[in-house]
Amino acid sequence: MSRLVAESLRKTYGRKAKTVAVDGFSYTFEPGRSYAIVGPSGSGKTTLLYLLSGIEVPDSGKVLYGDTDLTAMGEDARSRFRARYFSFVFQQFHLIPYLNAYENVSVGLYLKTGKTDHGRAVSLLRSLGIEDPNRKPYEYSGGEQQRIAIARALITEPRVIFADEPTGNLDSKNSEMIFRILTGLASEGRTVIIATHDLALAEMCDVVLRLRDGKLVGS
Ligand SMILES: Nc1ncnc2c1ncn2[C@@H]1O[C@H](COP(=O)(O)OP(=O)(O)OP(=O)(O)O)[C@@H](O)[C@H]1O
Ligand SMILES: [Mg+2]
Repeated sequence: MSRLVAESLRKTYGRKAKTVAVDGFSYTFEPGRSYAIVGPSGSGKTTLLYLLSGIEVPDSGKVLYGDTDLTAMGEDARSRFRARYFSFVFQQFHLIPYLNAYENVSVGLYLKTGKTDHGRAVSLLRSLGIEDPNRKPYEYSGGEQQRIAIARALITEPRVIFADEPTGNLDSKNSEMIFRILTGLASEGRTVIIATHDLALAEMCDVVLRLRDGKLVGS
């Protein structure tokens, strides 16, 4: 497992009246640790996750994973690299509505390897407390849907897991469970990076990074 290094990341949106979404962010994320990114709405949390994960490219600055400079790659190479090493969990789960839980998890693996693995998908779901993998997403609770989304993220054995407000649609009991699952992944040597509004949940992570106006103002 490698370090994920951000060097002076800057990202602006708009042409004339520019919004500076991320402004000179530098940090080294270690394997085996969980990180919360907190800050007010508009402080750049989502943009920062997109830059770190290679979904978006910065205007300037670098993202390095081990020896690989993501910011020097073309779009295709970067998206292959992302599929291989990174996974993303979203607030809205983004499960495919007409596929059952098992199929939703399998899709993640199929897109990466061209294969499915029924046993692994089912046992991963079971380890996250989803015993019946044959229902459609809407037939599960919100907390269960997020656990299915986490299973889909994990089936590819990512080294870095990004989550953007993963508990934004959940009650406090489910939120705590999701945070326990996500932060627990760091003990397997993965790097876990979670953007959240919830300071109490953020404290469950090994490190809390505070953003304001796109700048790192404390950790
Ligand atoms: N695609 C975009 N086009 C233009 N401006 C954008 C875009 N994405 C983000 N921004 C702007 O960049 C700034 C940072 O937004 P970002 O979504 O990263 O904040 P955030 O901390 O995730 O906020 P929230 O807590 O509300 O999710 C905001 O001012 C936002 O309006
Ligand atoms: Mg956001």
